[in-house]
Amino acid sequence: VRIDGGGLTLVLAPAPGAAPRVAWFGPELDVGCDLAALAEATRPQRRAAAPDADHGVSVYPEGGWGFSGEPAVVLTAAGETVRLGEGAVEASGESLRVRFTDARLGLSLMLDWRLGPEPGLLTARAELRNDGPHVVGIERLASLALPLPEWADTGYVVGGRWASEFQITPVPLAATLGRTGHGGRTGFDGSAYAIAGEANMDDARGHVIAAHVAWSGESRWCIDTLGTGARQLQIGAAFRPGEIRLEPGARFETPPAYAVLSSRGWNGVRAGFHALARRLTGPLPPRRVHFNSWEAVYFDMDAARLLPLIDAAAEVGAERFVLDDGWFAGRRDDRTSLGDWRVDTARFPYGLAPVIAHAAARGMDFGIWVEPEMVSPDSDLYRAHPDWCLHAAGRERPTGRNQLVLDLSRDAVCAHLLEALSALLRGNAIAYLKWDHNRDLYPVDSPHAQTLGLYDLLDRLRAAFPNVEIESCASGGGRVDYGMLGRCQRFWASDSTDAVERLRLHRTMSPFYPPELIGAHVGASPNPITGRRAAMDFRARVAMLAHMGIEADPRRMSADERETLAAHVALYKRHRVLLHGGVQHWTPDGQVVIAPDGSEALALFARADAAAVARHPPLRVPGLDPARRYRVEVLGGGRELPPMTGDTLARIGLRLPFVQPETAWLVHLKAEAA
Ligand code: GLA
Repeated sequence: VRIDGGGLTLVLAPAPGAAPRVAWFGPELDVGCDLAALAEATRPQRRAAAPDADHGVSVYPEGGWGFSGEPAVVLTAAGETVRLGEGAVEASGESLRVRFTDARLGLSLMLDWRLGPEPGLLTARAELRNDGPHVVGIERLASLALPLPEWADTGYVVGGRWASEFQITPVPLAATLGRTGHGGRTGFDGSAYAIAGEANMDDARGHVIAAHVAWSGESRWCIDTLGTGARQLQIGAAFRPGEIRLEPGARFETPPAYAVLSSRGWNGVRAGFHALARRLTGPLPPRRVHFNSWEAVYFDMDAARLLPLIDAAAEVGAERFVLDDGWFAGRRDDRTSLGDWRVDTARFPYGLAPVIAHAAARGMDFGIWVEPEMVSPDSDLYRAHPDWCLHAAGRERPTGRNQLVLDLSRDAVCAHLLEALSALLRGNAIAYLKWDHNRDLYPVDSPHAQTLGLYDLLDRLRAAFPNVEIESCASGGGRVDYGMLGRCQRFWASDSTDAVERLRLHRTMSPFYPPELIGAHVGASPNPITGRRAAMDFRARVAMLAHMGIEADPRRMSADERETLAAHVALYKRHRVLLHGGVQHWTPDGQVVIAPDGSEALALFARADAAAVARHPPLRVPGLDPARRYRVEVLGGGRELPPMTGDTLARIGLRLPFVQPETAWLVHLKAEAA
């Protein structure tokens, strides 16, 4: 069975008595390709000390029936391990379904795979129906299990921590490599991302498969290397022992997994995921320049003191004022008040209206911080409903950042939150919510139910207030995933606004996320988290290439810094349609964003450390139309370099000084009229 889409071909070959196997997953094959020959050439050879019916890694390896690698599915019913056996394949165009049935137990499992429409994309999910009389325990049910081509010899492990998210580490593949989330939320540990590629692949060269599960709870991935040399990648939601029990008559659907196969390194992964993210997010209005109050004032605020800050933000060009933590009932530090989502009357005696009106008069709309899933033990909500938080009866209630987590598997809790947030949005002209989540979930037996409760709450809120944008924040980038994408329009990528850190972070997030979804703010110097000092033009240029905002208090900047910042905000506004709709190519020296029609591009060449060499080679600009000539303008100094063709720009590049640490050049390229 063959399907084609997104520039890919997938061929499944039948394996009598067992699930089909993947005979080909890769770049599109010729129309006339002989599938029987392909199946024969890829058929696993007989080997010693193996099951007699050894079909290798199937499209969905099951546990307990002779396969010795990691199973993608483990189900139990009536004290038995379920046997899926042979699957029936239906295919049409770019999609296929594999159906497994256990007639004895009344179970059916369906895999649903689709190629494209985005370049290199495979979307996969699984669905289990229980039409039998027994309760079925789901121990494991991957969204995707994919045998890997033999070039995949290196895992690229996503991990990180608070204020240093999305680190990517290459690891040679041997044995089983993988990670399972245990914190109840997406977290910092990269458990929702699995990447297998060639060693030494780079931005432009090499084969790679990058996979992600669109899930905001606990996820699990693994890349399994068997003794036969075969490898498989698996990704899906993770389940705690006994967590998911499927009653007779019930159905369970996994979250979708997305995998992008690229034959041109990370840039091919970017092309697939950016187009996918744009489809799932839908069209966004031009992304306004945020001013976020957190690093400027932290908890130290009231209505009168915010007005001059709003003025200062407007002067440097901000278009949205986001009031961060500290505005609600009694909140003076991080020890109280979560759950009491009403305006603090001591700080805001006339409510938020005067603040919002002041921002509006300065041309800014208004956003506000909330952390709806949490409750402080010192809050009216907790005093009224001490049983609403996640807890184990009769045992201690461990806090994190002094707070407890509300149990979103309870309808009453979600109904209350929906009403509290709706009241806030009805009563105030709020364009944007910064939706935070500052601790892991514990104690909890079903983080899965918590995630479903969150999705339902967000979906209902979005349906009622479709014009309110939501940003997903979790102590920075602790909840960045495609389950939130589509429900949220922005990710707060990291609490670290240090431009050197951000340069690395924007690069490592870019395979999965387009720049318009990544919140990037100009922070203070010295930076409040790292203590590093950096020039304003460097800070502003790094923030400009994502969804730009400002976190530093302009009143504490020098007049020169304010002027430089305002100039870069103006540049961002001029170029944001290009930046947020273009095609991104990274090079070792930076990145270039190219208009879909190739008529224009903006490049940022930026480095953190000093170059090892005294004379840096020219800075190459890949991806432009080779035959067209481009005007080359170095922005923020008004310098113009001689025009060049796309071919020259890609193969030779621009001669600019690029040796000193913390250098950043912003270059605009515009095709000359034909
Ligand atoms: C988290 C967020 C920050 C800020 C604080 C407020 O740490 O990541 O950006 O909103 O909470 O308490």
